Amino acid sequence: MGKLDGRVAVVTGAASGNGRGMAVRFAEDGADIVVADLNEAGMQETARMVRQQERQALTVRCDVANKGEIDALFAATVERFGRVDIAVANAGVAERETDCLIMTEEQWDRTIDINLKGVFFTLQAAANEMIRRGEGGRLIAIASIMAEWGSAGTPAYCASKGGVKQLVKSFAQAVGSFGITCNAIGPGFIETEMTRMIRENPMVQDMLVDRTPVGFFGQPEDVAAVAAFLASDEARFVNGTTIFPDGGITSGNYSGRMRQATLAARAEQDKQA
Ligand code: NAI
Repeated sequence: MGKLDGRVAVVTGAASGNGRGMAVRFAEDGADIVVADLNEAGMQETARMVRQQERQALTVRCDVANKGEIDALFAATVERFGRVDIAVANAGVAERETDCLIMTEEQWDRTIDINLKGVFFTLQAAANEMIRRGEGGRLIAIASIMAEWGSAGTPAYCASKGGVKQLVKSFAQAVGSFGITCNAIGPGFIETEMTRMIRENPMVQDMLVDRTPVGFFGQPEDVAAVAAFLASDEARFVNGTTIFPDGGITSGNYSGRMRQATLAARAEQDKQA
């Protein structure tokens, strides 16, 4: 018996990275999966991985920047499976060249439309379907450590993720009495397509690993583990919060090299004492 046996989970942005990781993990735990994205080939690959777990997969092309397409996604889900138990608003973009000083209106709108408006209407459509059925459910939105930080180079991304962290608090209040919870996950640096360019720059990669207390980048499985918990019955009292699987990077002003130097200096002092 899996923790999610008999449940139906909709995951947006499930053609790759964190979305695929959560889709496959939910399937391992027993759920049937609706794979929503714009990338057809990626969706088919995720669906294949879900079916390998002997669970059903439905792929639906859906641009989350378009409310009509989100509504159609949930209509297709109900038509095929008759229910929605878990919805993950994961689809997101981190665009280049969105520096505060040069960002255009189009760039701002695109990031906010996908990362914040898309999350809002995904949660709204899922919540209304769950309330209609009356058997509760789990809403999960993917924020980021950038919900906590600013960045001159990605202001719209930071604002969108800070918005997601706030948004789940409002949904938590709106849906809690229906047996539904709404929470966010704020991942640190995870090895996906989104971070490929960062990881291909040795200087940036080294700096970020140095700032991460556990000393490595996360994998989609690390995000999926938190999602699997939030989606389960065990998380029934967790509502309106954001969990950060980030290796400790948001804990403060950490440097691995500084820590090593401090420990070495202390050992030297102890030796001399
Ligand atoms: P990814 O680029 O591998 O996956 C993003 C997916 O979203 C892609 O499959 C893409 O086709 C889809 N997508 C983009 N725009 C869409 C739209 N308008 N409608 C439907 N689907 C769309 O990147 P990753 O890392 O898996 O990102 C997933 C989520 O995780 C995003 O919300 C991202 O902001 C968040 N995140 C990622 C972190 C990381 O280090 N990789 C850290 C923190 C948060």
